[in-house]
Amino acid sequence: MDSEDQRLVVIMGAGRHGRNAADIFRWMNYPILGFLDDTKERGSKVVGVEVLGGFTEAHDPELLRRAAIHVAIGNSNIRRALAEAVTAHGGALCSAIHPTAVISPYAKLGDGLFIAPYVRLASQCTIGTGCILDPYCTIGGDSTLGPFSMLAAHCSLVAGSQVGAGSFLGTHVAVLGVSIGAHSVVGAGSVVTRDLPDNIRAFGTPAKVQGPADWSRPPV
Ligand SMILES: CC(C)(COP(=O)(O)OP(=O)(O)OC[C@H]1O[C@@H](n2cnc3c(N)ncnc32)[C@H](O)[C@@H]1OP(=O)(O)O)[C@@H](O)C(=O)NCCC(=O)NCCS
Repeated sequence: MDSEDQRLVVIMGAGRHGRNAADIFRWMNYPILGFLDDTKERGSKVVGVEVLGGFTEAHDPELLRRAAIHVAIGNSNIRRALAEAVTAHGGALCSAIHPTAVISPYAKLGDGLFIAPYVRLASQCTIGTGCILDPYCTIGGDSTLGPFSMLAAHCSLVAGSQVGAGSFLGTHVAVLGVSIGAHSVVGAGSVVTRDLPDNIRAFGTPAKVQGPADWSRPPV
């Protein structure tokens, strides 16, 4: 792979999230080779970027040689499955990180992240692979966000908070140094004052468990 080729990006998903990722790669001055999306016509354009084909094109060794892949799908389970298929085929995941994000050099970052404008990541926080952090999220020191989780805009994990893999926190959720399990959904505006388990749906101030998480419909 020559150094020119290494800078190309292919975005999987040309929906709302994919369009936001394209904006960020443009702000980063990364050339975008195209989108992959099963629901869009090959050769069509979305925000001026060509749709190269469907998701399975991301298994093409020639494409993976030319470009790194950014998976821009809001649903955590689908995002994980697509990302894992890319890496299983030898591809590299790349992150979309807006230049206004303020990231400690001591933050530990996974691959394939989406980090929106004005995100703040404090020293020695850990962000797992494939996470999405929308605008104005703040992650305090020694906090951990598990892989393929998503924080909607204005979420705050105060220092020492833990969120398990594949969880979704709605907009304006505050986690006060406690733990949320894996694959859980926390509703918009909640204040999480006590640990929450895996696979639940919770909301309120303080956040209370309402029942099991329902991943058959998107929490967004
Ligand atoms: C929590 C959530 C996932 C839905 O949970 P749900 O149990 O399926 O909720 P329903 O829509 O069936 O509503 C059930 C009740 O809970 C209430 N409720 C729903 N979400 C709530 C929230 N975040 N905070 C407080 N109450 C909430 C509803 O008002 C309703 O009350 P009612 O029975 O008195 O009318 C959803 O409301 C939510 O907050 N999603 C996050 C949205 C978001 O931030 N998106 C970011 C964009 S990327």
